[in-house]
Amino acid sequence: MQTKKPWRLGTRAKLLLRGLRYAPLLPFASIDGWLTVDEAITLYELSRALPNEKPLAVEIGSWQGKSSVCLASGLAGKFRPRLCCIDPFDASGDAASADVYGTRAEQATGGLRATFEANLAAAGLLDVVEVHAGFSHDEARRFVEPIDLLFVDGDHAYDAVKQDFVDWAPKVRAGGFLVMHDVVHREHDGPRRVVEELVRNDPLWVDCRYVDSMFVARKTMT
Ligand SMILES: C[S@@+](CC[C@H](N)C(=O)[O-])C[C@H]1O[C@@H](n2cnc3c(N)ncnc32)[C@H](O)[C@@H]1O
Repeated sequence: MQTKKPWRLGTRAKLLLRGLRYAPLLPFASIDGWLTVDEAITLYELSRALPNEKPLAVEIGSWQGKSSVCLASGLAGKFRPRLCCIDPFDASGDAASADVYGTRAEQATGGLRATFEANLAAAGLLDVVEVHAGFSHDEARRFVEPIDLLFVDGDHAYDAVKQDFVDWAPKVRAGGFLVMHDVVHREHDGPRRVVEELVRNDPLWVDCRYVDSMFVARKTMT
């Protein structure tokens, strides 16, 4: 006997039920990745709230552009916005993720970087994005500008997330945002430990909150 699949609301419907103002985020729904609707809205709202002149967001771990589209949509329309997307685009990652990345990357015709760029172009957001094809630790050495929003979603191993935090968090300007993904999953202990050990106990980071598996904090003004 055939079992009936339970009826579920699709991502697009879920997004629009949250309000028509989220229509610019619709492209996120058709891009491969791991972001929930509430996480997507959070990235969008945070980047929309950044300064209107020359806002700078940095994303570590872009994959095929699902979260990049959310951040870039929030930045679009501002004066000279920039979203720097750092990813080797070779499906490399921590031990818990590498197999999944490898399998899913095979579906990305033309490779991950081409798919990333095609997704951003289809959403009309390519001009907001600056691609840094490489590893976050190497890119950090070259990067000197103050960051308004840092999104960490690259290598999820504890040492790698810690390195990302050590390399990049000092570059977040006072009042800027730190966002980290996968901070509650058992198989990704790295992000959760870094948040608990280095962020939650540090008075430099305030207004801490969780949205699904995402963590958000703001750097104090002092
Ligand atoms: C979980 S995926 C990112 C998902 C993406 N943020 C999204 O929401 O669609 C992690 C990505 O980080 C990349 N990555 C792994 N190690 C990295 C590193 N050291 N620096 C930058 N990116 C890295 C992986 O290859 C993969 O593309």
